[in-house]
Amino acid sequence: MKILVTGSTGQLGSDCKQVLQRSHDVVARNSKDLDIANQLEVTEFFRENRPDVVVNCAAYTKVDACESERDLAWRVNVDGTQALALRASEYGSKLIHISTDYVFDGRKKLPETYVEDDEVCPLSYYGQTKLEGELVVRRANRNHIIVRTSWVYGLHGYNFLRTILRLVLQDPKRELTVVNDQFGSPTWSYHLALQINRLIEMDGQGVFHATSEGHCTWYELATYFLDKMAVRHNLIPCSTDDYPTPAVRPRNSILENRRLKEQGCNLMPHWQAGIDQFIERDKDNLLKEWGLR
Ligand SMILES: NC(=O)c1ccc[n+]([C@@H]2O[C@H](COP(=O)([O-])OP(=O)(O)OC[C@H]3O[C@@H](n4cnc5c(N)ncnc54)[C@H](OP(=O)(O)O)[C@@H]3O)[C@@H](O)[C@H]2O)c1
Repeated sequence: MKILVTGSTGQLGSDCKQVLQRSHDVVARNSKDLDIANQLEVTEFFRENRPDVVVNCAAYTKVDACESERDLAWRVNVDGTQALALRASEYGSKLIHISTDYVFDGRKKLPETYVEDDEVCPLSYYGQTKLEGELVVRRANRNHIIVRTSWVYGLHGYNFLRTILRLVLQDPKRELTVVNDQFGSPTWSYHLALQINRLIEMDGQGVFHATSEGHCTWYELATYFLDKMAVRHNLIPCSTDDYPTPAVRPRNSILENRRLKEQGCNLMPHWQAGIDQFIERDKDNLLKEWGLR
């Protein structure tokens, strides 16, 4: 199959490109090659390439910046998604669109989880634009999959783990406060790419939650990661109230992969196994960028 991967230099886009090109003809486009919010560029791309499947990994993902950069966030996450969805519908392409745990308000009591048909109620502008993106996909193209994931990390692009590693390596003795009362499921972009490949193979339809199994806090995640990396640190747990941010984040955004499990195709491992495998594969690369290998 011919598959367009948008946002192909981001975390998930890079891994989707790597995984999908093992068995498909992948056309990878980054933000400079194909601006998804530019309708002319999108139309031109479809006319020339006629992809069977589009995996939309492009998004404006800076959650806090979305609060002030509202026009840009809407342009990419809603207008861009709509441009892809309309052309995909016109050319008979399947659209696989990536969404987020931040469409939920996180008010469920722990250890309750969110399933695919739970009520959505985003707290942040980022979450609002991602929810609107889901709605434009549903309206424009019946042949779609919406994959909601959470707390994504990988070797490429910016993420929480790479930021923590950089700060700790710069000064191992420095006290770093990390939020310990938000709960979610850290998900390796490579594992998610394998899951997306599986969804393509089985020709899935509709909304799927796809996150690692189990859950933790940001503090627990950072501690587990640095300990496994054998990097000394001085992390201090703190509450959300101690660490105010422009965007409000859900306290509990643990997603249950219910539909993947019902359809017998849940490939997602426990989050700790995800971190272990990420480190096993990429530890040297992670340290190399800070001159330590
Ligand atoms: N990261 C997370 O924790 C997380 C959690 C839940 C869901 N998600 C969702 O998962 C998907 C992938 O996220 P990610 O972590 O891989 O994000 P990422 O690393 O920020 O990658 C997003 C990519 O989109 C590109 N992009 C931005 N504007 C674009 C435009 N107008 N046209 C084309 N490309 C554009 C960016 O390119 P430039 O860098 O050149 O701008 C970047 O390469 C997104 O839909 C995101 O909302 C992410």
